[in-house]
Amino acid sequence: MLLALVISIGAMCAISAVLAIIMVIAESTIGNYGEVSISINDGDKKIDARGGKPLLTTLKEANVFIPSACGGRGSCGLCKCKVKSGAGEIMPTELPWLSEAEKADHVRLSCQLKVKGDLQVEIDPALLYVREFRTTVVGLVNLTHDIKQLTLKLDDPNSMDYKAGQFVQIETPVYERTDEPVYRAYSMSSVPSSKNTIEMEIRLVPDGICTTYVHKYLKVGDKMTVNGPYGEFHRSENDRHMICIAGGSGMAPLKSILYDMREKGINRKATYFFGAKSKRDLFLLDEMKQLERDMPSFTFIPALSAPDAEDKWEGETGLITNIVDCHTEDLSNAEAYLCGSPFMIDACIVVLKKHGMPEANIFYDKFS
Ligand SMILES: Cc1cc2nc3c(=O)[nH]c(=O)nc-3n(C[C@H](O)[C@H](O)[C@H](O)COP(=O)(O)OP(=O)(O)OC[C@H]3O[C@@H](n4cnc5c(N)ncnc54)[C@H](O)[C@@H]3O)c2cc1C
Ligand code: FES
Repeated sequence: MLLALVISIGAMCAISAVLAIIMVIAESTIGNYGEVSISINDGDKKIDARGGKPLLTTLKEANVFIPSACGGRGSCGLCKCKVKSGAGEIMPTELPWLSEAEKADHVRLSCQLKVKGDLQVEIDPALLYVREFRTTVVGLVNLTHDIKQLTLKLDDPNSMDYKAGQFVQIETPVYERTDEPVYRAYSMSSVPSSKNTIEMEIRLVPDGICTTYVHKYLKVGDKMTVNGPYGEFHRSENDRHMICIAGGSGMAPLKSILYDMREKGINRKATYFFGAKSKRDLFLLDEMKQLERDMPSFTFIPALSAPDAEDKWEGETGLITNIVDCHTEDLSNAEAYLCGSPFMIDACIVVLKKHGMPEANIFYDKFS
């Protein structure tokens, strides 16, 4: 009996060893795709690289940055680009993120597509201007029990041109929670006129790689690498009533947009609904009150969904969707700027459409 057990364990070990050797050989032969050429935007830029890595990584190594908020795990859907030739079959991991129209239009998730040969790629031309910045942490301030304001001075290059509402990706270096650098997206809360300094509002996600690093390890004086700017979430140029809705760190891009409007003397009608659970989750209340004084057409409406008894809260109470519903009438000529969790954004879109807002007037950044 014992002998049979020893023989079968030995056989299993031998099979595993043979499989491991086959995989190593396969990786160095089948997985060796040699030199490849990647043509971007009909030859505007050409990259020569070694095949075998994801397209996202291959482009990044050539200083072409595609947004990748989940760090290439296939869970944010941000890293889309059009691959006109050479891409091969769509991977099952890409399917949840691609509409039928996108599939027909050769859109792919660049983090899932392995480079195996020459490619013709089309990306937003603005991405060719995205840069990597070396920065120094000059401010790290608690805004609430779980949101920190991080301020970075740009060292090299020492200035960034961006639009209020855009985001950057910050690199978390190797530390005890990650054995490779990871990138995460954070909206800038600073105003674009402060070209040498950018500011972010970062909420701690329990067990999150990047947010744990920022909240528990990062210190003033530390160096950080960021790349950007990215994103289409910014104020459109018209006079429509702006309905702004945010929760938690979703405050960041809206603060940037509103402060930018104040700086430029734009007195457009704007109503800002900010949702939080209890009073300890509210922040920048004095700053928003000051904005109301500086911009006569601006109204700030904070609402608590579950105030604590000791909060003695006299403001709006309830889910932010209900507050928006109660405070708005016909929105057919208004537009909306939403920022926060995907769940909150989807629920708000339903309410806005119920009040007649056309889908084309709804802009959002989902913090997924
Ligand atoms: C365009 C864009 C802009 C963003 N701007 C901001 C911003 O200004 N401020 C900000 O705080 N965040 C922002 N985010 C979210 C941010 O990019 C990270 O996803 C988030 O901070 C978690 O990163 P992490 O490395 O700490 O967690 P991870 O290590 O990525 O995740 C750890 C675990 O938490 C889960 N998780 C990930 N994100 C969340 C979340 N938000 N809530 C609950 N669970 C989560 C994951 O599924 C995983 O199980 C933005 C995201 C996008 C796409
Ligand atoms: S980087 Fe997030 S899906 Fe590709």
